[in-house]
Amino acid sequence: MKTIVVLTGAGMSAESGVKTFRDSDGLWNNYRIEEVASPVAWERDPEMVLEFYNQRRKQLFEVEPNAGHKALVKLEEKFNVQIITQNVDDLHERAGSSNVLHLHGELKKARSTVDPSLVYTLDHWELKLGDKCEKGSQLRPHIVWFGESVDMIGPAVEIISGADMVIVIGTSMVVYPAAGLLHYVKDEVPKYYIDPKAFQVHGVSNLLILRKKAGEGVPFLVDQLLKQA
Ligand code: OAD
Repeated sequence: MKTIVVLTGAGMSAESGVKTFRDSDGLWNNYRIEEVASPVAWERDPEMVLEFYNQRRKQLFEVEPNAGHKALVKLEEKFNVQIITQNVDDLHERAGSSNVLHLHGELKKARSTVDPSLVYTLDHWELKLGDKCEKGSQLRPHIVWFGESVDMIGPAVEIISGADMVIVIGTSMVVYPAAGLLHYVKDEVPKYYIDPKAFQVHGVSNLLILRKKAGEGVPFLVDQLLKQA
């Protein structure tokens, strides 16, 4: 079975009602990254940081996977599908995808501030000051903040290096190291980029662009690939 690696970003979940970061109505137009998504922010105002992620988490409990997420599940009928997502939502999992690697953490998880190996799945949206791990320290969102290392990049490089085909969906490809992942894919491997603002990525060959929304572009491409397989 051929391996298709799918790299997704915020645009994947946009039609589910989750805001992207850098579009005109994106989150980073309303919040300053350094005030809500950095270790400095956590030091300075943990309550504000918790509230920012609480609002995101609350919304996540209210939204559903869209046609794009569902089409990727169908792709598993004939391919080994590995998803690498920059998204912190769980919409790929809820749609039914089997292999999902989260590069930037997971919104529905919290972790200890003294022992990063203590990670807890939340069944409610609100994480508060005073919520503690079993060692007695404050819990923080299980999110990779700006300035923190992306620990999952090693496994992601390994996965994408072995791809027979790559599909990039709904990402502005500006945040590293995620944006550098395409450079680990062999030149001859076919690559697709589905995003209304998709562009030819410098130094990446065999890249076919579909300037469409995920909800339309992904089911279309998946149908084609399943027919050809
Ligand atoms: P961005 O907000 O930078 O980019 C979103 C992309 O989605 C843009 O290229 C849009 O054109 C595209 N888009 C919008 N609607 C779409 C739709 N319906 N279908 C398909 N594409 C659509 O989001 P990311 O590239 O995911 O990191 O941003 C990367 C990282 O920056 C995020 O993981 C986050 C952020 O800061 C952290 O929080 C650590």
